Amino acid sequence: MVTLLFTDIEDSIGLWEADPEAMTEASGRHNRMVREQVEAAGGHVVKTMGETFRAVFADPLAALAAAVAIQRAVGAEPWPPGLPIRVQMALHSGACLRRDGDYVGPVVNRADRLLAIGHGGQVLATAATYELLADRLPGGIGWRDLGEHRLQDLGRAERVFQVTGPGLAGEFGPLRSLDHPGPRHNLPSQATSFVGRAAELAELRSLAGGGSRLVTIAGPGGIGKSRLALQVAAGALAGGGDGVWLVELAPVAEPELVARTVAAVLGVREEPGRPVLDTLVDAVGDRSLLVVLDNAEHVLGAAAKLADALMRCCPRACLLVTSREPLGVSGERVFRVPPLAVPPADLAVPPAGLAAFESVQLFADRAAMHRQGFVLDESNAAAVAGICVRLDGIPLALELAAARLGSLSAAEISARLDQRFGLLTGGSRTALPRHQTLRALIDWSYDLLIPAEQRVLARLSVFAGSWTLAGAEAVAGGGAGDWQVLDHLAALVDKSLVLADEIGGSTRYLLLETVRHYAAERLARRPGPELDETRVAHRDYYLALAETAGTHLRGPDEAVWLDRLEAEFDNIRAALALSLADPDGTEPGPDGTEPGPDGAEPGLRLATELRWFCNMRGHGAEILEVLNALLERPDAQRSTLTRARALTAACHLRNQFGDDSAVPAMAGEAMAIARDHADDAIAADAVAQLCWFRFEHGDLPGALARIDEAARLARTTGDPRLITYVLLHRAVFAGEGNDVHAAFADLQEACTFARAAGDNYQLAIALGNLGRYEHIAGQLQAARAHLQEANTLADSFSYPSLYVAFRQMMGFADLLDADPGQARHHFIGSLDATRITGVKSYVHGVLLGLALAAGADGDPTVAATMHGVADEQYEQAGRVFEAMEGGLRERDHARLRAALGDAAFEAAYRRGRTLSRADGIALATAPAEPDPGAASAVPAAGQALADGSAGLLSEREREIVALVAGGATDAQIAARLFLSVNTVRSHLDRIRDKAGARRRADLVRYAMQAGIEAVALSS
Ligand SMILES: Nc1ncnc2c1ncn2[C@@H]1O[C@H](COP(=O)(O)OP(=O)(O)OP(=O)(O)O)[C@@H](O)[C@H]1O
Ligand SMILES: [Mg+2]
Repeated sequence: MVTLLFTDIEDSIGLWEADPEAMTEASGRHNRMVREQVEAAGGHVVKTMGETFRAVFADPLAALAAAVAIQRAVGAEPWPPGLPIRVQMALHSGACLRRDGDYVGPVVNRADRLLAIGHGGQVLATAATYELLADRLPGGIGWRDLGEHRLQDLGRAERVFQVTGPGLAGEFGPLRSLDHPGPRHNLPSQATSFVGRAAELAELRSLAGGGSRLVTIAGPGGIGKSRLALQVAAGALAGGGDGVWLVELAPVAEPELVARTVAAVLGVREEPGRPVLDTLVDAVGDRSLLVVLDNAEHVLGAAAKLADALMRCCPRACLLVTSREPLGVSGERVFRVPPLAVPPADLAVPPAGLAAFESVQLFADRAAMHRQGFVLDESNAAAVAGICVRLDGIPLALELAAARLGSLSAAEISARLDQRFGLLTGGSRTALPRHQTLRALIDWSYDLLIPAEQRVLARLSVFAGSWTLAGAEAVAGGGAGDWQVLDHLAALVDKSLVLADEIGGSTRYLLLETVRHYAAERLARRPGPELDETRVAHRDYYLALAETAGTHLRGPDEAVWLDRLEAEFDNIRAALALSLADPDGTEPGPDGTEPGPDGAEPGLRLATELRWFCNMRGHGAEILEVLNALLERPDAQRSTLTRARALTAACHLRNQFGDDSAVPAMAGEAMAIARDHADDAIAADAVAQLCWFRFEHGDLPGALARIDEAARLARTTGDPRLITYVLLHRAVFAGEGNDVHAAFADLQEACTFARAAGDNYQLAIALGNLGRYEHIAGQLQAARAHLQEANTLADSFSYPSLYVAFRQMMGFADLLDADPGQARHHFIGSLDATRITGVKSYVHGVLLGLALAAGADGDPTVAATMHGVADEQYEQAGRVFEAMEGGLRERDHARLRAALGDAAFEAAYRRGRTLSRADGIALATAPAEPDPGAASAVPAAGQALADGSAGLLSEREREIVALVAGGATDAQIAARLFLSVNTVRSHLDRIRDKAGARRRADLVRYAMQAGIEAVALSS
């Protein structure tokens, strides 16, 4: 008879994995400690395997003493941080067989099994050892009876005792015997890597840690709910408990089979005549289980019932459900899975930056599976980013797209995503049937909808971007009552087909791109004219919205309406596209439908309504293009008030944003229609447009000649906004004609009308102009106050074009105040706003301002070049200098000529004339580098451009540089490229500016640095 002491480090595999280096040392130290204590107590180590020890003792008391000594020593030992070394032990006594120096037989097996059910720090003993020692315990050592336990694979239950005493841990979880199975699971291993989701995993863990026992992971098909749940479940294995069980519900077609399937997975046997749910609940009892109910949306009711029963009757059971729709039972915490992060749609991100986005990581990982050697690089970065964005970061869609890389490039896949349902069909054969094609993925959700929900979903596909409940009611209702639409929409949100997002207290709805494509296909397949009806309903809704907005813009509550139009702009664009789709209003639609009965009219009205919105918030050029196209349509030619309004709006936008050469004809036509219809408002407006055109093109007398007529017509309408509008025009003309008194009078009256109407936009303009003329009149304080108020209005109400203009005005005010540094600050601020907003109509003025600022405190040669740039831009825009601008410019030209001499001034000025707008801006905004030598002044400015400027050269310019580097003369280059010698020279001037190279030798050096290969002429 001997007593066996078996010991092992708890979870040694995990520790080795966590920190192999530290574990090497710790394991050695542990092994030495165990051996020392065993031998010190008179025992003998029979066998070791890694950290597992089998020791044998003749005296059971010695075995017990060794066990306690080892626990105390290990407990007191400073182990490396993060490497908790805890030893589990088993004591058993009996007669053993010896074979090859080892002990074998049932006594050894029993000690092994006992070792397996204990915890780190725990010393267990069988009844046999207990009996031998019961009366011989040393001081302080005692026993705790842990009751009977069935050990793994052995029939007879064993009474198990735990040794207690000083230096020994006392509390442990239940033994991992068959009666209390340790963490067990049926989680499948995954063939592919898991990507990202750190934040989602943390939140799910904290939900569980916070005591939520029923968590539903919800979200659209293929977004990664199941994969995420598996990851959470795998993490739960480490936390103890009685097991983690995955129940796959996707193949369970009948609701009655849900409880039965769960019972089968948990190994619970059905009892005849008793509902399986009752048996299941009893069997789970107070066991600490985590059950994952995966893919529950099609058996939602049965899953909810089961969840409810488990929550009520099994206090330590936890449920993690994945479903496209939440269960809707009390106590359920719903976690909605977001798509994987996608790169910004409108920015070119370099490959290294792209890899930070989880969608890109997933795509690249799967891509490498389908195309050997696939790496994200410059050649495919844009296409991959596009794929991720257009597939909304949905993992399944990305996997299906990557699967196409076997036969198509990323760019080809990206280009075909409009036909995504035909393209994305190559799912893994082992995947769920609904994961084999993109269409099947959505079919699964669509088929679970009731017909009315299917219809609403299909109709919602006509929205571009997000929409409101009111929009859905107008567009998707199609005869259904408002409440019904609300209910259907809510159901679609629950089922993750429609996304809902609350912004500032109001909810906006959205379809993922793939769902929108799918729903659009469904709508197109619906019988009758439903597609056209829905599109028309959509257009009419936005027309009504724009018309209502029109009555609020330039009024006290315009901010709300501007934001609303902005939020709806994608939809407005789609509504306009519908009007443009049928070019002359007579062709039948592509599917044979009749042309809309209302032709161009609704589109014209819609675009016209956007005139003020465009002025305040941008999109002007785009709307102007639409207006132009619609005005050209044959069915838009009738002389209606709609056409007249559209013509006037087009004139306004052309004066601001576009080519204004057609303004006189358009304004003339509008005036004629207005006259015929006796519509004073349109007439006043149209006359004002014509006057502004004349003014901009240097015909001040022509502008002044007719503006009183506009003012008179406006006053007859009594509309304060229109009166303000015309007065503002007249004030500018008067000011330019040096009648500052008349300008002040009109501006003050305009301020009064604008304030009364709550028209902040025109108030800002009036204040800005007041400030400007006050400045010219020398009333500096009043001027600054008004300009500042105007600028604050433009900034706080977000009128980008005004902001751009006011910063420019403030710059000119500073020039008049002889503060070129501050002026430059405003001009550059104006240019920055131009870049952000796309409002280009003030750029020429800003360039003049920057030239003047350079003239005042900068290098005269650079200033002269910048004057050339500014003059060129005025000329290209067809603009003349306003009085103040003209005066400042002339003074500056004269001063620079005097400083440089005529020839140098002319040379620099002419160089400025040849620069493009972009190069001119680059030159004007390059940080001023005062140069000690006057001769190097121009190259210094050019130098600022030359940094990284190889890319600035056009193809033609590179060709010329290559020829220069090959030794060709100007004439030879001209002959070779079929150009005139003068053209070659002006190209060379531009190249020199860009390259910062004055002499041919410099150009040759530049060519080498820029990697442009020299081309030698053969003869
Ligand atoms: N984070 C991820 N890392 C790697 N692969 C992922 C990830 N998320 C999802 N996938 C993969 O995307 C595919 C779809 O994921 P999953 O099955 O989890 O979607 P689901 O939301 O459960 O879809 P359904 O609504 O159809 O049940 C699977 O192939 C999955 O392995
Ligand atoms: Mg799933």
